[in-house]
Amino acid sequence: MLSLTVPLVALTIVFSLMRAYSLWESRRAARKTGLPYTYSPVHELETWAYITNPLLRWMYQDYLMKGHGWPRWARFMVKDWMYEDKGRAHEEFGDVFLVVSPAGMICYTADAQLALDVCTRRKDFIKSREKMKMIEPFGPNVVSSEGNLWRFHIRITAPPFGDAANRLVWAETIRQTGFLVSSWSVSESMALKSDIYLLGVNVMACAGFGRRIDWTDNSKAAPEGHETSLVNAIFGVVLYLPYILLLPQWLLKRSPWKAGYTAYKEFEQYMREFIAVEKARIASGSGYESKIKGNLLTAMLATSADEEKNLKQGAQRTSFNDDEVLGNVFMFFMAGYDTTANTIIFACVTLALDEDLQEQVIGEIDRIFEEAAAEGREELSYTHDFPKFKYMLAFMARSN
Ligand code: HEM
Repeated sequence: MLSLTVPLVALTIVFSLMRAYSLWESRRAARKTGLPYTYSPVHELETWAYITNPLLRWMYQDYLMKGHGWPRWARFMVKDWMYEDKGRAHEEFGDVFLVVSPAGMICYTADAQLALDVCTRRKDFIKSREKMKMIEPFGPNVVSSEGNLWRFHIRITAPPFGDAANRLVWAETIRQTGFLVSSWSVSESMALKSDIYLLGVNVMACAGFGRRIDWTDNSKAAPEGHETSLVNAIFGVVLYLPYILLLPQWLLKRSPWKAGYTAYKEFEQYMREFIAVEKARIASGSGYESKIKGNLLTAMLATSADEEKNLKQGAQRTSFNDDEVLGNVFMFFMAGYDTTANTIIFACVTLALDEDLQEQVIGEIDRIFEEAAAEGREELSYTHDFPKFKYMLAFMARSN
């Protein structure tokens, strides 16, 4: 027993000294900025927060329900603490302040203009490479890259986000909403969160890589050469994403979340097959139009192929390799389904709480349907009718 105690004590002392030294260095850097600062033993973005975050959330679930925010000592160790704490920390420390911890410091701002400025000055505010590596499970992408590499990614990934993609999203959302309404009309309770997530994932599968998924598809068998169906692979990646991002593959494969490893590998295989098919279509000269017009994967490969054609001899590479295509499709998919699904869920809750808002939104929908009918259209269209939804786009701002 003694033989284990001594190294453990020594390790704890060394670790504590290192943390104390790092804290001292962070504090020195914070003082130089002239901004107000406060301390926290762990900050919300460091590795230890994977422990403090769930632990504190579990410990303080009842306390949070009282609406007093977080206990002051704990707040900065919790991921996204500010949503429950509201503006309390800013009332205490001002519009801009620093949280200093042994793992570095974080600057928080309640000034929207400043936040916009930081987000748009990409050259001055560089994201940490070490953290960005984590969001490259399938390859480098527009979110994980910086500087010239980011410009290279944005040149190929921006053009696909045009009208064709918007029309595809419009049409597929109507189709998926049809499934949702049918499902809700026969079931006794509405599973708002999981059903809206399903809708978001299905729309993104269509817009992201041109695959139409029906609500009954999750029972489909795996095609030859695969262990699982595309739908199961997609949902596996969504479900196990934190483990896929956090654990190395060799560990994930042997962990209790090994289904996440299968989903990860299968998703990659499906995507590489889709890329090969689309590239072959483009190379054969049969045009850039895939069956599902406007999907981001095909549009990105087309932009990439155009860039390659225009490449001058001896110039730097201008087209994507397969890893970069895969990395970006994955990023679109993840950035797209979660944000959109959360916005819809929040919108539903907002409407449920305010009858007047409901009336206004319904009034606008009815009016636009009537105008379309007067022009001889039974269905609404993206081109003619979407721009008319002014109230719909802004009603959540009014609900404050
Ligand atoms: C309601 C839905 C959405 C919201 C609220 C939203 C919000 C945001 C915000 C705030 C950023 C900026 C993040 C930053 O600069 O650090 C961002 C970036 C991004 N979003 Fe969205 N987004 C939504 C939908 C989508 C969709 C549907 C896609 C893709 C299909 C997408 C793809 C991206 C990408 C690729 C970036 C990074 C761009 C870059 O770093 O240059 N987003 N989004």
